[in-house]
Amino acid sequence: MELAQIFKSQGTLEHKELVFLGRVRSNRQGKVVSFMILNDGTTINDLQVVYKTTTNGFEEGLKARVSSIVEVTGTIVLTPGKQQPFEMQATKIELLDQAIEDYPLQKKEHSSEFLREIAHLRARTKTFNAIFRIRSTAAFALHKFFQEKDFIYVQTPIITSNDAEGAGEQFVVTVNEDKDYANDFFAKKAALTVSGQLNAEAFAQAFKNTYTFGPTFRAENSHTNRHASEFWMLEPEVAFNDLAKNIILIEDMLKSTVSYVMEKNIEELKFLESNLEAGLIDKISKIVNSEFKTMKYEEVLKVLQKAIDNGHQFEDNNIYFGLDLGTEHERYICEVVNKCPTFVIDYPKEIKAFYMKQNSDGKTVAAVDLLVPGIGELIGGSQREDNTDKIKERCIEIGINPNDLEWYISLRDYGYYKSAGFGLGFERLLMYITGASNIRDVIPFPRTPKNLLF
Ligand code: 4AD
Ligand code: MG
Repeated sequence: MELAQIFKSQGTLEHKELVFLGRVRSNRQGKVVSFMILNDGTTINDLQVVYKTTTNGFEEGLKARVSSIVEVTGTIVLTPGKQQPFEMQATKIELLDQAIEDYPLQKKEHSSEFLREIAHLRARTKTFNAIFRIRSTAAFALHKFFQEKDFIYVQTPIITSNDAEGAGEQFVVTVNEDKDYANDFFAKKAALTVSGQLNAEAFAQAFKNTYTFGPTFRAENSHTNRHASEFWMLEPEVAFNDLAKNIILIEDMLKSTVSYVMEKNIEELKFLESNLEAGLIDKISKIVNSEFKTMKYEEVLKVLQKAIDNGHQFEDNNIYFGLDLGTEHERYICEVVNKCPTFVIDYPKEIKAFYMKQNSDGKTVAAVDLLVPGIGELIGGSQREDNTDKIKERCIEIGINPNDLEWYISLRDYGYYKSAGFGLGFERLLMYITGASNIRDVIPFPRTPKNLLF
């Protein structure tokens, strides 16, 4: 029987004999009674097995080292008042596979740095088991939200010729040199996608409500705890939507996703609250329960300047129109000023992507970033530019040849009335929900500069 099932039906299992197959977390021998802590991966909870040290049938059990696989036959005994609600009294223990002596994960606290070096094993620890359970639930919850609204899930390509963000941060795809077709495989430069947005926009014109959710790749040489070279992004795109509707969709999506995770993974969240971040559950409830605020970029500048005038020190105190807000500014706005998730809209066009709709003021675009406490930017999105001349002009300004994006720009010529969407950094959401302070700790096998283990 699996451990998750045993936990669900512990009361009804009392005194019934059952067989349990799991991995040894610890095996402590006493003179009379010995204790084995087991887990089979189906829950973060462990099973304590009690067995008599000198009774026949436990010779193999006594030998089992940490991480060995054992099969235990025994009965469940409720133990109210003890640390665990029940334990198993063994009648037989079979050692199915003995682990080597120096298993890297012993029963002590390991640093997250050390655990990153053994990413193939770290999911066996309670903390990472909890994090990756939540990752699985959150991915499902996002799909659930959009599927229940009848959005079409479009799988946009990984290999592409578009630099969708126009930032020149792509990984180039090459063919093994020993192939005679190595130089000209696609007959143009191919790269890994930085965003599925442009393709999703084409689908939005066919289906109205669409989203893509998959891996994206960025060759940014940033050594921060919030950037990865490979990360997952969820990008909805909705035809006929403007910026205001885009913002409503973001808030609905986050409220729905976080509340689903809180319902499904409350045990994991409680564990992470006591191990990674105090007050975690209260913090994430704010996504569900508080109204998000909206501020214009120019208002944000004023608030930052006022804070500086009143003596607040940022690392960068030079505030001017055109400043690309730093994480310290973003966090100040949502943590200190508003104390809740905050949408910032209408950024200067120079610091935003070429496809964003230019506002009538001639200097800002209909962009939105969602800033959340502890993280900074969680989501970036916009209403899309519908004027082909303006898009082409912006392309040229940033050094993209508009002919290379002819297919994308031409969508505007075939009947087009507004389109808006956004990109949610899935790992940033997970950092927020789990309390992990480094993005590498919410990715099963992370890729960052100088780090391509596993
Ligand atoms: O703001 P970004 O660059 O927006 C886009 O890619 C648009 N195409 C989205 C759209 O409108 N469809 O990225 C979106 C989000 C960011 O807010 C951030 O959360 C996350 O993706 N992100 C990263 N996460 C981890 N590592 C990185 N290197 C990231 N770069 C962006
Ligand atoms: Mg952004």
